Amino acid sequence: MTTTERQLDTADLTERVKGMYQEVALHPEHDFHFETGRPLAERLGYPAADLDRIPAAAIDSFAGVGYFLDLAAIAPGEAVLDLGSGSGTDSFLAALAAGEAGSVIGVDMTAEQLTKATDLAADAGSANAEFREGQIEEPPVEPGSIDCVISNGVINLSPDKAAVFAAAAAVLRPGGRLALADIVSAKQLPEGVTCDASLWAACIGGAMQRDLYVEAIEAAGFEILELRDNNRYRFISDRADNATQKYGVTSISLLARRQEESR
Ligand SMILES: C[S@@+](CC[C@H](N)C(=O)[O-])C[C@H]1O[C@@H](n2cnc3c(N)ncnc32)[C@H](O)[C@@H]1O
Repeated sequence: MTTTERQLDTADLTERVKGMYQEVALHPEHDFHFETGRPLAERLGYPAADLDRIPAAAIDSFAGVGYFLDLAAIAPGEAVLDLGSGSGTDSFLAALAAGEAGSVIGVDMTAEQLTKATDLAADAGSANAEFREGQIEEPPVEPGSIDCVISNGVINLSPDKAAVFAAAAAVLRPGGRLALADIVSAKQLPEGVTCDASLWAACIGGAMQRDLYVEAIEAAGFEILELRDNNRYRFISDRADNATQKYGVTSISLLARRQEESR
């Protein structure tokens, strides 16, 4: 199922998304349609003491939309996959929770984000976190090898969300968890918004209607265990804010469990 099959030039979209997140990696101090960095992370609920334990430069380029690591409850020894890991904030926090006996693989398609996260992991001696180039619709990870898939602010950017949820189910062991924060909308967005690649790259244009988003996760073989609104997330440009007010574009965090027999 593609979200907007006829209207959106997905090749152009991919390049726009890469261009935007290249900027977020290299120049996080620039202005975007959305907030970035440590003040955002703290407002969303990331504990300051946890942020103090990971590379500050990763947090500078943090562009997540909600806190969900309490839902993920990553235990020592677990294998974690971060879909759209960006500069690595959630991956580094997950690596601390998984400990030396665990591991984290971050997957992202933007070269500058991967380079930044990889360099920071090396500098910090974070041996249990690695970053791989790939698409979240087809992550380069062994099927059934992961205990917990995490993702923050990314799946809304994919034109094929069903493929992302199916890929998450495929890499998880039976009973494994999917914990994420993402952007959804109360109403179906009109073409003027869904075909605006700049609004799409800013995490608005690709927002799926909330109930359809939940249905897509369930259709991939997950049971939703918890879902909450992240009222502290805001878009900041006027254009982005107008679209979000009009169509009820909001951030949610959720936890789902892969059923023993994935469909
Ligand atoms: C909003 S940023 C979030 C990054 C990170 N999760 C964070 O919280 O800072 C979205 C990230 O997803 C990546 N991305 C978007 N679509 C992708 C796709 N289809 N496959 C792989 N990576 C993707 C972008 O390159 C970018 O780094």
